[in-house]
Amino acid sequence: MNIREMTIDDYDDIIAMFRETPGITFREADSRDATRRYLERNPGLSFVTTVNEHVVGCVMCGHDGRRGYLQHLVVKPEHRRHGIGKALVRACINSLKQIGIYKTHIFVFKSNSPADAFWANNGWMLRDEINMYSYNTSSNENA
Ligand SMILES: CC(C)(COP(=O)(O)OP(=O)(O)OC[C@H]1O[C@@H](n2cnc3c(N)ncnc32)[C@H](O)[C@@H]1OP(=O)(O)O)[C@@H](O)C(=O)NCCC(=O)NCCS
Repeated sequence: MNIREMTIDDYDDIIAMFRETPGITFREADSRDATRRYLERNPGLSFVTTVNEHVVGCVMCGHDGRRGYLQHLVVKPEHRRHGIGKALVRACINSLKQIGIYKTHIFVFKSNSPADAFWANNGWMLRDEINMYSYNTSSNENA
């Protein structure tokens, strides 16, 4: 297992993984241009895992100067339960720590119970006291 920083050249591989993963939704915000902008805005924070140079896992991570945010943590089904997810998250948390960001959030669909087990078993605190509100200025509901 090898973990390295994600680049825009990984885009096709990671989108293929997202599309075949229940619980991960592909939106306009996941376009190639938007992903390039995200990676440029958040250098050194998103990672992929490769086996024999093939991408088998990824995580995207950014921050707003105050808090870290994780998204799109995905490991290919045949490579799950080998510590890849945990290692990817650790890479993000360590990189955030190096730039002075100590607290990180992730939004998870309530219907995604396997993901819940992952976060709960890895020390993440469920925030059931918070409601999330979103506002969309686009006419595209899938923005
Ligand atoms: C969630 C996901 C990324 C976990 O990746 P992974 O590489 O299998 O996770 P790890 O092997 O690092 O698991 C670490 C620990 O998390 C827990 N865990 C992971 N998957 C679990 C599951 N399906 N059920 C219960 N516990 C789980 C276990 O405690 C595990 O340790 P163990 O294997 O020693 O028991 C992977 O299942 C996945 O890609 N799911 C689909 C996409 C998704 O839902 N992503 C998260 C959305 S935010």
